[in-house]
Amino acid sequence: MASPLLFLLLITLFISHSSSQMLLLPLTHSLSMIEFNTTHHLLKSTSTHSLSRFHRHKHHHHNQLSLPLSPGSDYTLSFNLGPHSQPITLYMDTGSDLVWFPCTPFNCILCELKPKLTSDPSPPTNISHSTPISCNSHACSVAHSSTPSSDLCTMAHCPLDSIETKDCGSFHCPPFYYAYGDGSLIASLYRDTLSLSTLQLTNFTFGCAHTTFSEPTGVAGFGRGLLSLPAQLATHSPQLGNRFSYCLVSHSFRSERIRKPSPLILGRYNDEKQSNGDEVVEFVYTSMLENPKHSYFYTVGLKGISVGKKTVPAPKILRRVNKKGDGGVVVDSGTTFTMLPEKFYNSVVEGFDRRARKSNRRAPEIEQKTGLSPCYYLNTAAIVPAVTLRFVGMNSSVVLPRKNYFYEFMDGGDGVRRKERVGCLMFMNGGDEAEMSGGPGGVLGNYQQQGFEVEYDLEKKRVGFARRKCASLWDRLNRDKN
Ligand SMILES: *[C@@H]1O[C@H](CO)[C@@H](O)[C@H](O)[C@H]1NC(C)=O
Ligand SMILES: *[C@@H]1O[C@H](CO)[C@@H](O)[C@H](O)[C@H]1NC(C)=O
Ligand SMILES: *[C@@H]1O[C@H](CO)[C@@H](O)[C@H](O)[C@H]1NC(C)=O
Ligand SMILES: *[C@@H]1O[C@H](CO)[C@@H](O)[C@H](O)[C@H]1NC(C)=O
Repeated sequence: MASPLLFLLLITLFISHSSSQMLLLPLTHSLSMIEFNTTHHLLKSTSTHSLSRFHRHKHHHHNQLSLPLSPGSDYTLSFNLGPHSQPITLYMDTGSDLVWFPCTPFNCILCELKPKLTSDPSPPTNISHSTPISCNSHACSVAHSSTPSSDLCTMAHCPLDSIETKDCGSFHCPPFYYAYGDGSLIASLYRDTLSLSTLQLTNFTFGCAHTTFSEPTGVAGFGRGLLSLPAQLATHSPQLGNRFSYCLVSHSFRSERIRKPSPLILGRYNDEKQSNGDEVVEFVYTSMLENPKHSYFYTVGLKGISVGKKTVPAPKILRRVNKKGDGGVVVDSGTTFTMLPEKFYNSVVEGFDRRARKSNRRAPEIEQKTGLSPCYYLNTAAIVPAVTLRFVGMNSSVVLPRKNYFYEFMDGGDGVRRKERVGCLMFMNGGDEAEMSGGPGGVLGNYQQQGFEVEYDLEKKRVGFARRKCASLWDRLNRDKN
């Protein structure tokens, strides 16, 4: 029998071992049915939300070097701040690079207009115990788009002799403006100890917002910037910060809200354990493209999309980032649907429709109601063509499971029309390429990432996709942990 001391020692060893290699966190899908009581309403709201996030982003780029995509609906993450705080719940967003949340007193302007997608946002946090970041810190400069410390300390009213002697430590970093595609905020930087599961990150830098425009919920930026969560984690523990992955349990637009969490894995877990049971384990990788203009994005290149056996080649704007920093496809956990430039989108839809129409009738009424297109009435022998994303690189094709691009549900049965099974293609038209004023060429949304472990390898600068049963991955990793 093991002595209590040995037992304690083993536990301690285990915790330190696991926290240096891998940290498992639950992501919760936050879509709630509070305001949307039918499938149709919710679909329409989500599809228009994805579009506005994409479009506003594209049209507001002038004079703005960093404009992350706005946090979408979707996946949330919780942590604690300082010794006694309530859990703070934030959107997990790979499309932006700042960790911020609402602070007391908090005023959200025009938040009523935003579709409320989170079920229970955490109340604003009182940060009176956190330490303000000083104007001469590197973090302050980063938050102010590389503005020199001397300027920031001048704004903070640090006297000139102190600026010259770099002695402005007690002067606070001035508040800064941060804009998403469809919302914005003014935040001040603070640092405190952040607790993520078993891990304590001391001196974690975050933004505290007293006023936001249309942003009721905070965001955990997982993008490539220096203030993002993985970047700050990497300074503590490179093994944990340089690689993360998530595995998104399927969206459901129905009202049941009890679902397994989606695993968010910081660091690398034992690869042997991946070949477990009936799971397919191979990752398909594609390189991250460098993008000087939008450096916080995880941008990859898309060569084409195959519908059935035929491949529609992607335009240049999706294959690479040009000299101006425009183009490529952003892999984003914070946007729901995949957005493609209009001409390419039309070719994909046309190829899809040509095949789908052979066995299914088009459903214009459903298209009208949901904002999705094309939609079909599905008979029992419905044929839905296979869709494959062909990323730039050798062996970089990802075959999408049908539910990742074709949403099926029952319609009718309301006394007017009989109940019928319908299905809609879940790609979005991102607009005319020629009219776009820069920015990414497209976005790979989280709807298309369901049921894959999506890995962000910051060392090898690549993004990987592996088919997984995400709910059982969660169970398995928890079992291995215990
Ligand atoms: C759904 O919402 C509509 C309008 O928002 C309302 O008229 C209707 O009664 C609601 N239905 C249910 C089942 O709650
Ligand atoms: C925050 O907490 C401190 C001390 O706990 C308290 O004095 C202060 O009034 C609180 N601030 C707000 C805005 O609630
Ligand atoms: C946190 O930052 C402060 C100020 O830069 C520094 O004095 C302190 O040693 C840091 N603490 C840890 C644990 O890194
Ligand atoms: C691509 O896949 C084939 C077949 O699985 C394999 O033989 C080849 O080495 C792979 N190429 C690369 C660059 O991974």
